[in-house]
Amino acid sequence: MLSDKDFAFIKQLLQQEAGISLGSDKRYLVESRLRKLVEELGLDSLQTLVGLLRQKRTDILSRTLDVLTTNETLFFRDRKPFEALRQYVLPELIRKRRQYARLSIWSAAASTGQEPYSIAILIKEHFPSLLKWRISILATDISPSVLEKARQGIYSQLEVNRGLPAAYLVKYFRKIGKQWQIREDVRRMVEFRELNLVGNWPPIGPFDIVFLRNVLIYFDLATKQRVLARVARVMRPDGYLFLGSAETTLQISTPFEPLPVPRSCCFRLKQASPATVGR
Ligand SMILES: C[S@@+](CC[C@H](N)C(=O)[O-])C[C@H]1O[C@@H](n2cnc3c(N)ncnc32)[C@H](O)[C@@H]1O
Repeated sequence: MLSDKDFAFIKQLLQQEAGISLGSDKRYLVESRLRKLVEELGLDSLQTLVGLLRQKRTDILSRTLDVLTTNETLFFRDRKPFEALRQYVLPELIRKRRQYARLSIWSAAASTGQEPYSIAILIKEHFPSLLKWRISILATDISPSVLEKARQGIYSQLEVNRGLPAAYLVKYFRKIGKQWQIREDVRRMVEFRELNLVGNWPPIGPFDIVFLRNVLIYFDLATKQRVLARVARVMRPDGYLFLGSAETTLQISTPFEPLPVPRSCCFRLKQASPATVGR
């Protein structure tokens, strides 16, 4: 069992290192995930694990963050945001950026890759002319293990059954054994990198489109606000931000305002000024 003191330490560690706010109702979940990690690492107890974390063992910290983050995701999650991307956001940006022929997209908590690959597939499927542009899709996450899976682009039958139209499965995946691997040309469109939203960021952006979906829900208000302010700074002034469906009514002041497209979960910077492409 995790003692009260150790649970409080883990809570504080997760808050400090990943911005994640854990409620006391998550104690059982935390304990069972840490128990699995103790087994994987061949340690003798939860207390030993906590002891190593107290000694600031960075390898153990990284594995701990890995097991304590929730990586739930699926292809074309919530559908509507991807419809908004196809019907409104990309046509608009294509009009505005034609002269520069480049677009920069960031999936900022990409988990195992379904989100950035959905964007890549959507571009291939509906905007083939964009393939002649310089399109960059950066996909980042705090968790090295989900990024590794994302890079391989290999999914179980269950995973491809979630959200992915059958026609896309046939067209953009190949079967390997009982699993499916996303085609190499789609994989090559996405670059995966480790990035902690509450840590130091490498120089990135400016982005035309940012997907920051289903990660702010784990942060407290102050952290949400800080992360959104930083995201705003790496976006072009007329760029678009997609949040998760539970994140559209954040009770905080942000530099963003919602796009009047129902359930798109899409936002723009307030007082968007004319494009500053090429800056
Ligand atoms: C629930 S998944 C969302 C995946 C995808 N965006 C979606 O909406 O389907 C949340 C992801 O956020 C990542 N995450 C949690 N805290 C993070 C942080 N501080 N920095 C970057 N990623 C973080 C987790 O590792 C996890 O993969």
